[in-house]
Amino acid sequence: MEGTPMRAVVVTDFDTEPRLVELPVPEPGPGEVLVRLAAAGVNPFDWKVIEGAMRGSVHHAFPLVLGSDGAGTVESVGEGVSFTPGDRVFGQFMDIEQGRGSYAEYAVTKAAKLARLPGDLDFDTAAALPTAGAAAHDFVEGTGIGPGQTLLINGASGGVGQAAVQLAAAQGVRVIATTDPDTAVYLRELGASEIVDFTAGPTADQVRVAHPGGIDAIVDLVTSPGRLEPIAALLKPNGVIVSSNGAVDAELVAARGLRGANLYANARPATLASLAEAVEHGQLRFRIDFKAPLEEAADALARSKAGKARGKTVLTIEAA
Ligand SMILES: NC(=O)c1ccc[n+]([C@@H]2O[C@H](COP(=O)([O-])OP(=O)(O)OC[C@H]3O[C@@H](n4cnc5c(N)ncnc54)[C@H](OP(=O)(O)O)[C@@H]3O)[C@@H](O)[C@H]2O)c1
Repeated sequence: MEGTPMRAVVVTDFDTEPRLVELPVPEPGPGEVLVRLAAAGVNPFDWKVIEGAMRGSVHHAFPLVLGSDGAGTVESVGEGVSFTPGDRVFGQFMDIEQGRGSYAEYAVTKAAKLARLPGDLDFDTAAALPTAGAAAHDFVEGTGIGPGQTLLINGASGGVGQAAVQLAAAQGVRVIATTDPDTAVYLRELGASEIVDFTAGPTADQVRVAHPGGIDAIVDLVTSPGRLEPIAALLKPNGVIVSSNGAVDAELVAARGLRGANLYANARPATLASLAEAVEHGQLRFRIDFKAPLEEAADALARSKAGKARGKTVLTIEAA
C-alpha cells in the first residue's frame, strides 16, 4: 500500500487555496501508525495554519496535508507499536514539520497520538472529538472549578464550547453559556443553567446584571489578545480565567487579584479514551452540524472561517 497514490487535501504555501491532489501513501516509521481514514474533523486551527498561525515557530513542509483530527482503521504499523492492522482508532494527525495531516485517504501519525474506538462508536463522531473534546476537557479542568460554583463559557455555541458545557455541568458546576437564541434550547439540554444571548448585547454587561457579586471562573473561547478586560472583570477576587486564544495577559490578571492562563489542548490517549467512553455511554454529545466529502474540504474550511458553527464539521473519506 505504501507508495501507491492516494488523495489528500494540501496547501502548497501560506495563504493559498486548499487543493485535492494525489500523493504517495506514506510509510510509518518506528512508533508510528498508518491509518486508512474514514473521516476527518475540521477545526478553526486548520485554516489558521494556512493563514500562518505557526509561521516562524515551526518549519512547514509543503505541500502540507491539512487537518488535525481523524478516525479510521489501522493499515500498518512501524516498530514498537501495540496497535495492529484492523484496529479502529482516532486521534490527531497534524505534523506541520513533516507536512502531515488528516484530510487524506491515508495518514501516518505517532501511536502516542491515537486511541482505540470503543464498541461501535461511529467514525464521524470519533473524528469530531479529538481537538474539541481534549480542549474542553483541559480548559474546564484548568479552571479547577467544582460543584456549585459558577462558570461562564464564552463561545459555548461552537465545537469546544458545547463539549465544555457538558463536561462542566456533569461535575455539578453552574454553567452560563453564550449563544444565539436558535441554539439556546440545545445548550440547556446539554446542561447549561443560564444562557446569555451574545447577539443581543455585550456578554460582559449581561452577566454583570445577573451576577453583580461576580462569578467564579471563565473559559473564554472567543476573545482575542488585548480585549479580555471586560470579561475578566466579571470574576470574583481570586477567580480564574482560561483562554483558548492566548488572550490572557498574566501580569494584568495577577495585578487584578485574579488567576489566569492561556491553555493549549493536549489530546492524550487517556483523555481521548475517556471522552469516547462518555460519548458511548450517552454522557457526552458531539453534534455534527456540517458534513461534506473530502473533495469539498476547501468549502468546509471557508465555512468554518465564516463562523456560525453550531457544532462540529466532519469530512467523510471514501478510498477511491
Ligand atoms: N488553545 C487550544 O488548544 C485550542 C483548541 C481548540 C480550539 N481553540 C480555539 O478556540 C476557539 C473555539 O474553537 P471551536 O472549535 O469551538 O470553534 P467554532 O466551532 O468555530 O465555535 C466558535 C463559536 O464561538 C461563537 N462566537 C463567535 N464570536 C462570539 C462572541 N463574541 N461571543 C460569543 N460567542 C461567539 C461562534 O458563533 P458565531 O460564529 O455565530 O459568532 C461559534 O459558535 C477557536 O478560536 C479555536 O482556534 C484553541
